[in-house]
Amino acid sequence: MNFLEPALTARIPCFPHGDTKSRHVVSYDEYVKTGGYKALAKVLEMEPAQVVALVKDAVLRGRGGAGFPAGLKWSFLPPVDGKGSRYLCINCDEAEPGTFKDRLLVDFDPHLVLEGIAIACYACQLDVAYFFIRGEYHHQARVMQRAIEEAYAAGIFGKGGMMKGKVKFAAECHLHRGAGAYICGEETGLLEAIEGKRGWPRVKPPFPAVKGLFGRPTIVNNVETLAAVVPIIDRGVSWWKSVGVESAFGGMPSWGPKLMGVSGHVNRPGVFEAPLGITLRSLVDDYCGGMRGGKRFKGAIAGGVSMGVLGTEQFDARMDFDVGRACDVLGLGTACPTIFDEDTDMVAVARNCARFFMNESCGQCTPCREGSGWVYKLLTRIEQRDATTGDLDLLVEVAGSMGLSEGTTICGLADGTNWAVRTIVSKFRGEFEARVKPRFVPVHVSAR
Ligand SMILES: Cc1cc2nc3c(=O)[nH]c(=O)nc-3n(C[C@H](O)[C@H](O)[C@H](O)COP(=O)(O)O)c2cc1C
Ligand code: SF4
Repeated sequence: MNFLEPALTARIPCFPHGDTKSRHVVSYDEYVKTGGYKALAKVLEMEPAQVVALVKDAVLRGRGGAGFPAGLKWSFLPPVDGKGSRYLCINCDEAEPGTFKDRLLVDFDPHLVLEGIAIACYACQLDVAYFFIRGEYHHQARVMQRAIEEAYAAGIFGKGGMMKGKVKFAAECHLHRGAGAYICGEETGLLEAIEGKRGWPRVKPPFPAVKGLFGRPTIVNNVETLAAVVPIIDRGVSWWKSVGVESAFGGMPSWGPKLMGVSGHVNRPGVFEAPLGITLRSLVDDYCGGMRGGKRFKGAIAGGVSMGVLGTEQFDARMDFDVGRACDVLGLGTACPTIFDEDTDMVAVARNCARFFMNESCGQCTPCREGSGWVYKLLTRIEQRDATTGDLDLLVEVAGSMGLSEGTTICGLADGTNWAVRTIVSKFRGEFEARVKPRFVPVHVSAR
């Protein structure tokens, strides 16, 4: 199924639904037998700054949603000041609807993730790592806890120093379970939650690299981003750059393979490893066995609900970090599309998305707290054919005024409401118009 080189699929797993050849390497011993922890050994022969430079050169773009280059983020850290710990927070909150790739990485290859964590700790000189895992991931929390204990026993983490004391660098790694709030996936909400507080995002700047967990320099990275560091070290930057695509807009490239979780109306939903730049059509036809029941493609959530929706004419959208610019969506997000067939009621989809954001808003910012409620109410009225064209215009206006991109909120959760609702309305406007009545215009009757 996977057309990338076999050695690559051995390093980053490929999990086609029901494929028994999927990688499943849970124990430390098995992981080492398949070449595990060699990249860490290589890294420990290098200077930390060289490792950061290598990851920067690879332009490893964050796999958690925003696509920010990991090496660049790492280079924002201030020099070690000896005044306290420096932290790595690993984001495994994964509450974005339709996104389920990090879960499988933990489930099937926890030591790959831990090796990436150890490399990042060494490269950035971070002495404490917190693995923040979504509250509902009970099984994955157990798998990861066991793997952390094995890594401690093998001398990768703990006071003795990495690689059994040959190199003088020691880091601790702890598992921290969330309580199930989507907002705790936002990087500063996550920091608050680890500190034991309500997961309210912080106003930025200062950014976490400068002032993060407990006020100390902190890097927040997604699980998949850290896992991807391992094959970059193992196989080299030129190999990494041989997979993926250059930007079509002269911007930053989209290099490397990416885990893409596909759900919705396809024959074979699942998580697949594919090169960035693959078209959505190829992902559906070649990886997922085509549209379910031979139905026609109607649209897709681009990569997590917050990114917005691709329309019927955008089936050939390139799944890379430029998809936002090319297709009028917010971005690639988590690269986990949800596919809709021709029978899907897009008004219902919009209302469902709006309900999610309304429920998950933390309530700090008025446009998000109040706006998401109004967006949901308006969509409910439209769905029930109890709205006018004026309500439709109001819906677009309210949704379009929310978010970081509009400068009206603290975090990007509100952009999710904005992009999900606006792109569905603009790309499927006919369906909305068919449900609304003409606006009531009072006629002035002059008294004679
Ligand atoms: C509301 C909201 C929820 C988020 N949830 C997640 C999440 O579950 N996992 C994740 O990695 N990033 C999530 N992010 C993005 C993080 O804020 C952050 O950009 C990311 O963890 C950085 O890692 P990366 O650079 O490796 O992608 C979320 C952002 C927002 C605004
Ligand atoms: S945008 Fe919404 S979720 Fe984010 S801080 Fe403001 S109210 Fe909270």
